[in-house]
Amino acid sequence: MKPAPEAGSNKMWGGRFAAGPAAIMEEINASIGFDQRMAAEDIAGSRAHAAMLAAQGIISKADAAEIDRGLAQVLAEIEAGTFAFSRALEDIHMNVEARLRDIVGEPAGRLHTARSRNDQVATDFRLWVRKTIDQADAGLEALIRVLLVQAEAGAEVVMPGFTHLQVAQPVTWGHHMMAYVEMFGRDRGRLRDARARMNECPLGAAALAGTSFPIDRHATAAALGFDRPTANSLDSVADRDFALEFLSAATICAMHLSRLSEELVIWSSAQFRFARLSDRFSTGSSIMPQKRNPDAAELIRAKVGRIMGALVALSTVMKGLPLTYSKDMQEDKEPLFDAADALMLSLAAMEGMVRDLAPNVGRLAEAAGQGYSTATDLADWLVRVLGMPFREAHHVTGRIVALAEAKGVDLSALGLAEMQGVEPRITAAVFEVLTPAASAASRLSHGGTAPARVREQIARWKEMLG
Ligand code: ARG
Repeated sequence: MKPAPEAGSNKMWGGRFAAGPAAIMEEINASIGFDQRMAAEDIAGSRAHAAMLAAQGIISKADAAEIDRGLAQVLAEIEAGTFAFSRALEDIHMNVEARLRDIVGEPAGRLHTARSRNDQVATDFRLWVRKTIDQADAGLEALIRVLLVQAEAGAEVVMPGFTHLQVAQPVTWGHHMMAYVEMFGRDRGRLRDARARMNECPLGAAALAGTSFPIDRHATAAALGFDRPTANSLDSVADRDFALEFLSAATICAMHLSRLSEELVIWSSAQFRFARLSDRFSTGSSIMPQKRNPDAAELIRAKVGRIMGALVALSTVMKGLPLTYSKDMQEDKEPLFDAADALMLSLAAMEGMVRDLAPNVGRLAEAAGQGYSTATDLADWLVRVLGMPFREAHHVTGRIVALAEAKGVDLSALGLAEMQGVEPRITAAVFEVLTPAASAASRLSHGGTAPARVREQIARWKEMLG
């Protein structure tokens, strides 16, 4: 970074200062190292503000045109990577304005009429978070689409369903994939809710109290794609709820990604062999030649730590702050940027992993029959066919399972005579419900695992996505 343009005091606010800041003061105070990521938003906000000032007759049309031309050039320089950011100029707002002055001269000094860095940063940050919400929403949609492809291909593929990570009842691969579709669908809903609530423009709140200039806040709000201006100038500069809401939604989404990652780690292990991750999303070991490690899944599983950490960090920064703006709030950006990066990377990597994921159909079918997974189906059969009360059927089934366990076989491998030893009224027809496929197909209740029901859900989602 280049040295301060003027030795001594800051040219933006240095009027009452005789000396410049201590080096360590500059270091703790500057945010340009990270808030330069909001350059495009800052310039968009300034262009809207300058146009409004001219429309309201607060600055001349000629000055506004110069400002606009200059800001376009600043943006081009930043995008081209030729812009020299200065730490002495603290933040993106003053870096842009200082360069604007180099380019257009005196009119640049009129841009900051009727605004403050407090409403400016609140506006920039909202624009940045709004853009990020839209990107995350698109990432989630892409992930949902590949989950739907998996679900459709695996609608009939039986696998064990678990509770307590103990085999519970047979389900289908399609049903399991669709469970994540529901989760990621809710994540999109939370992001959209947050977006709708945050889409109000703080620009024009000025430092905290509003301004005596006849500004048109509705015009700047509309120009920047906001639904309306914010209603209270104090709240406008003091509020970071929009960032916290994004981080809350991001945390829940990252938690879902982490759960799916954990399943991929388990499923790809030699003990489970439920699914194979592609070479593109696996890594080898430098010492053990046989290894195929699910590193991407493990990293996504871990990223929730950073994202949830950002939520905790910003919540902690905001708690107890008196109205209105305090410099504490400059600490809002780094955690959020980091969380946004982690979320976007996780979504993209998960999309790739799910796209390539290959279920091991034979192994899943085998596992689906293990662990007495159809014991509930046997109990249900006793209720349905023999008219037994469910509690009694549960007890009888428990005794049959104990018998199978003692012999070391699955339920369907137990002979009819052996079952009849426990309950004489059992007939050979019982074997029809003891296979995992029959078990899954019979669960036709709304939201159940039967392929017919899962296909309905896939169709509903496809229709919603268009
Ligand atoms: N860099 C500051 C931030 O990120 C901009 C606002 C500064 N406002 C002020 N009154 N010093 O919050």
